[in-house]
Amino acid sequence: MAKDSKDKFSTEGLKVPESLGVIMDGNGRWAKKRLLPRSAGHRAGAENLKELCRNCGRYGVKYLTVYAFSTENWSRPQSEVDQLMKLFVEFFEKYDPELEEEGIRVRFTGDIDALPENIRKVCREGEERSAGRQKMQLIVAFNYGGRREITQAAQSLARDVAEGKISVEDITEDSLSSRMYLPDVPDPDLIIRPSGEMRISNFLLWECAYSEFWVSDTLWPDFGYDELTSAFRDYAKRDRRFGGLSKKEG
Ligand code: FPP
Repeated sequence: MAKDSKDKFSTEGLKVPESLGVIMDGNGRWAKKRLLPRSAGHRAGAENLKELCRNCGRYGVKYLTVYAFSTENWSRPQSEVDQLMKLFVEFFEKYDPELEEEGIRVRFTGDIDALPENIRKVCREGEERSAGRQKMQLIVAFNYGGRREITQAAQSLARDVAEGKISVEDITEDSLSSRMYLPDVPDPDLIIRPSGEMRISNFLLWECAYSEFWVSDTLWPDFGYDELTSAFRDYAKRDRRFGGLSKKEG
C-alpha cells in the first residue's frame, strides 16, 4: 500500500459527506479515446473504484454508494453484460484484501434476488466476510433501479394491507422508506457524476430528494483524488436548507 503524505486527507476547507453516491460513468468513452475496447474502460473503471474506496475511507466518508449496473444495463450487447458480470466477480476476489486493510464493509443494493446464482453468491459471501469491518460501508448498486426499488417497496406494503397486517393509513413516507433495499443507510448527502452528463439515470430516486449534486467532465477511470477533494471543497459551500430557510435567514 502506497504511503500518503501526512496531510493528504486533511479536511481543512472541506466538508466530507457522511453518505456519498457516485455514478461511475464514462468508461466507454475513456476506452474509445484510447482506441481500446469498451471492456478495457470497464476494467479501468473497476480499478478506479478501488482507489475511490480507499480515498473515501481515509477522508472519513461513512457510506459510499456506487452505481455499477442498472436495471436498464441488461439492454447492452450480451458480450458487454457478460464482461460486467465477470468484472464484478473478479473485483471482490482481487481487491477484498485491500478493502479489508482499509476496514471497508461491503453491501449490495438492487434487485439482487433476480441475479444469477454465481453473482448472488459473491454478494452473500462478500457481505458475510466483511460484516465486522467498521471504517466505511461500500454499497454496490447492482441490478439497481430507483423505480424498481420504489415499486418493490410499494408492493411489500400493499401485500401487508391485503393480508390485513396494516391499514392504508399506515402507508406513510416513513413506512415506505423502511421497505427500501437498505433502510438503515442514510440518504446520500452528495451525489457525484463524472463524464459531463447531468442526469440521475434512475439512481437512488427516493433517497436523493435532498442530495446535493456535483458534476465533472472527467471520465470515470480518470476521476481521482484531486477531483474528489474539489467536490468536498465545493460541498462545504453548499447551504442545505431541506425546504426550510437558511440558518442566516432563520
Ligand atoms: C457507465 O459507463 C458504467 C457502467 C455501466 C459500469 C460501471 C462499472 C464499473 C465502473 C466497473 C465495475 C464495477 C464493479 C464493482 C464490477 P459507460 O460504459 O456507459 O460509459 P460511456 O457512457 O462512456 O459509454
